[in-house]
Amino acid sequence: MKALVPSGGAGTRLRPITHTSAKQLVPVANKPVLFYGLEAIAEAGITEVGIVVGDTAQEIQRAVGDGSAFGLNVTYLPQTAPLGLAHTVLIARDFLGDDDFVMYLGDNFLIGGIAELVERFRRERPAAQVVLTKVADPRAFGVAELDIEGRLIGLEEKPEQPKSDLALVGVFLFTAAVHPIVADLSPSDRGELEITHAISGLIDAGHPVAATITEGYWKDTGNVADMLEVNRLVLEGMEPELAGVVHDSELIGRVTVAPGAVVRGSRIVGPVIIGAGCVVEGSYLGPFTSVAEDCRIIDSELEYSVVLRGAAIHGVRRIEASLIGHEVEVTPAPRMPRAHRLVLGDHSKVQICAYS
Ligand code: TTP
Repeated sequence: MKALVPSGGAGTRLRPITHTSAKQLVPVANKPVLFYGLEAIAEAGITEVGIVVGDTAQEIQRAVGDGSAFGLNVTYLPQTAPLGLAHTVLIARDFLGDDDFVMYLGDNFLIGGIAELVERFRRERPAAQVVLTKVADPRAFGVAELDIEGRLIGLEEKPEQPKSDLALVGVFLFTAAVHPIVADLSPSDRGELEITHAISGLIDAGHPVAATITEGYWKDTGNVADMLEVNRLVLEGMEPELAGVVHDSELIGRVTVAPGAVVRGSRIVGPVIIGAGCVVEGSYLGPFTSVAEDCRIIDSELEYSVVLRGAAIHGVRRIEASLIGHEVEVTPAPRMPRAHRLVLGDHSKVQICAYS
């Protein structure tokens, strides 16, 4: 069995972060989201992995290498444009051969791994197996339609009037029966070869398609709110480790300070992770905050946020529910004139605190 990990895509919902970097490499508790997926694949006993890459190919190759750090053998499969998830199967045809495969979306986060799903698939070997989970608003997802016996009878991509509240989780299992169906697909209204159409095609052709409903935690980290939520969840389960230097500071709850990080005159209320080479001084870091390597947080307050490598936050209180990119600087404006001064990249989003 092989694994296919689509890690190209446009990443429009995570702009401007995705203008300059891959969304699959945005860190959750200071580890790229893609790494959690690769670890889950390795734990399920799969070693041959094809990673589909687009514009951010170099960055992903730099981070994952040949896969040996995960116990995997990784092949990179370039996709010229994000033409859809079924298109990633199409371009992976030679790599996949006639083997069964699991498709694990590179920006998806699933607690509990995929070993059981893979085991069920190996045992029953339907043409495809999908995973479903209840969501509050199914209109943003691929949505399943089940008959009264719980069999999958149809799928719709982002329907306006969903037929159930069961969304497709980004982990699919297939036999080689999917390839002739994928080869026959036409682009959808949004111009993509849809994986939902491929699965519907298998059902229509009379192939057995199994569905597992999971109560487990799943998130697509494609937008900021979900990203922060996954970060919260992973930090909640983190084992604290104090390897850096801590002076005159109060550390409460689960706090990790990586080697080479310095925390001085600060109050840190966990769960919080502070990456290698960071300096945190005269600051408050509140629960569910991840600060990646080489950041400087001076005289500031920050909570429920993710800060990427090399950012500097100086004299700002308070920042909450924020995703702050690589090498970003956040500082107060000079006293006069009383105005906000912004240098924002394309598609940035800023919410300024309005004083009455
Ligand atoms: P999506 O989040 O569905 O698509 P996207 O990356 O284009 O994001 P957005 O909706 O914000 O514009 O993609 C799920 C995963 O699959 C993600 O890791 C990117 C990857 N992907 C590909 O590799 N190729 C593709 O053609 C598509 C559509 C997605």
